[in-house]
Amino acid sequence: MRAARSKMKNHPDWLSLEHVWLPYTQMKAAELPVPVVSASGVRLKLADGRELIDGIASWWTACHGYAHSHILSKVREQLEKMPHVMFGGLAHEPAYTLAARLSKMLPGGLEHVFFSESGSVAVEVALKMAVQFWLNRGERRTKFVCFQNGYHGDTFATMAICDPEEGMHKSFRGVVPEQFVKELPDTQAKARDLDQFLAENRSEIAAVIIEPLIQAAGGMKFHDAEVLVELRALCDRHGLLLIFDEIFTGFGRTGTMFACEQTGVAPDIICLSKALTGGTVPLAATVAAKRVFDAFLSDDADAALMHGPTYMAYPLGCAAANASLDLFESEPRLDQAAAIETQLTKELAPCRELRGVVDVRVKGAAGVVQMDRVDVVRMCKLFLERGCWVKPFRDVVYLTPPLVIEPDDLSRLTRAIYEVLRAN
Ligand SMILES: Cc1ncc(COP(=O)(O)O)c(C=O)c1O
Repeated sequence: MRAARSKMKNHPDWLSLEHVWLPYTQMKAAELPVPVVSASGVRLKLADGRELIDGIASWWTACHGYAHSHILSKVREQLEKMPHVMFGGLAHEPAYTLAARLSKMLPGGLEHVFFSESGSVAVEVALKMAVQFWLNRGERRTKFVCFQNGYHGDTFATMAICDPEEGMHKSFRGVVPEQFVKELPDTQAKARDLDQFLAENRSEIAAVIIEPLIQAAGGMKFHDAEVLVELRALCDRHGLLLIFDEIFTGFGRTGTMFACEQTGVAPDIICLSKALTGGTVPLAATVAAKRVFDAFLSDDADAALMHGPTYMAYPLGCAAANASLDLFESEPRLDQAAAIETQLTKELAPCRELRGVVDVRVKGAAGVVQMDRVDVVRMCKLFLERGCWVKPFRDVVYLTPPLVIEPDDLSRLTRAIYEVLRAN
């Protein structure tokens, strides 16, 4: 059975399940994934010559589409000069330029940039910063307040701040340290409850962490800017640090460069990754406000942030990120996100009438059809038959296309969703 699955007809020779362990996959029942040989613009080219329109942007990274010539040429240039060099004691221009650019564009005095290589690690660094912020001030605070439907990564500390009941890490409940998982303060009553909770527990709490505006991997749930304004006010009232995880929302996905721009408030620490490099090379950043950074300044060497991943500030990643920021400056990405929002709103609306559809919602360049249930494997096949790469999860069928997608291609994706759900 395993051999049969591993060597199906019409697949390239290299594709088998003998040695590769797939993400979030029950390998006993796993089917071969779809072999891709190249990607350009919004299209994935498959080994058998077919092309798919990508509705997901490779887990929300490829904001400029694939193989954008500007990013490729800057990465190539950097590759020739110096693909990598250690960041401890040595410096390179792409990282220092990128740090300065990020701090200039982020709101609210977020100006001290710590680089790492993945979103989960960027969040780990934020958590560590928060704990050590208090340790350096002589307080031991080990708990985090996080929210139902939240998702912040797959490493141990980040699993602990994901939704412990609905989230994908629920088997680890009781294994990872228990945190304070609360309801979003989206009503006055819930805000009052949270206020009371924070008042009673603040001496234990290192920080409050949230994905602003869209909770992504926890079910593509949206909330209003007021929730974040309320959280900022609560954190200020109780003297707590506030962390925004903008790993999904950053770089135009919600319609503004960063989701927090829509709220008028800024966090004390922000986490960035995914579209930071336009989906080309892994890179992440944890950016802190001066107040946080200053708590690490001391005559005591142990008060320093004791962190330094090997590929920290990877020069290729920094070159890609600088090139991606050039594109945000020179091309109308946010206008494109606004146009995607308008089109998704119009073209996903008819799905509301279909059987099994619970909700249709759109924010920026993210469109979501929530179902009463989704057969993910079957639906993926139906999308593939229509030349579309759409990958539902849990109970949602969603689109987060590259921001450069043309209206006709987007219509093909929305039409495919309508047809597949109608046949459901
Ligand atoms: C909001 C958020 N935080 C953190 C992560 C983890 O990022 P990574 O998969 O790069 O570790 C993700 C990944 O989907 C995410 O959406």
